[in-house]
Amino acid sequence: MRLFVALDLSAEAEDRLRRAVGPLRGRYDGLRWTPPEGWHVTLAFLGEVVDDGLAAVTGAVGDAVAAAATEPIRLRLDAPGHFNRRILWFGVADDPPGAVATLGVAVQRAAAAIGVPVDEKPVHPHVTLARARGRERVPADVLADVPQVEVAWDVAEAFLYRSHLGRGAARYERLRSLPL
Ligand code: 2AM
Repeated sequence: MRLFVALDLSAEAEDRLRRAVGPLRGRYDGLRWTPPEGWHVTLAFLGEVVDDGLAAVTGAVGDAVAAAATEPIRLRLDAPGHFNRRILWFGVADDPPGAVATLGVAVQRAAAAIGVPVDEKPVHPHVTLARARGRERVPADVLADVPQVEVAWDVAEAFLYRSHLGRGAARYERLRSLPL
């Protein structure tokens, strides 16, 4: 199973972001847009885990989430940005500041401690909106085209997600709730 741990958007945040980026879909041939129903804020990408490892991963990651965050985290959509002109995202600001990064590191370490070879990398909280196709780049003008979205929400749980890859966009299945 291909697993990752993420925070969700509120229904209101998803709706507002969907309305903001909806008009841009189709305007940029070089971009593949992500379906709004799959939007999330990744904390840690765990990669392939054998089916038998699910209980151990859930336990370790669940304990880490509960220990690292003992109060709700407030998230807010911030501003669009990109990674290497390949990934277009909407940034997410957190309160307390740094809470999402702390949670991400805790999850990454917990997974590594039980032998899951995770990508241990700094967490830059974001929602991936689009990926550049082939050798395309995220055009500079799309950044200016994404409107501001002002919406905030409280997060009381993370989720262990499973990715189903296939033709077209990946589908993400929520496997477990991991309360903060
Ligand atoms: P993202 O967080 O930038 O959107 C499921 O694939 C999620 O895990 C995606 O949201 C993806 O990117 C994130 N992710 C982080 N590292 C990844 C990797 N090495 N391979 C695939 N997805 C990764």
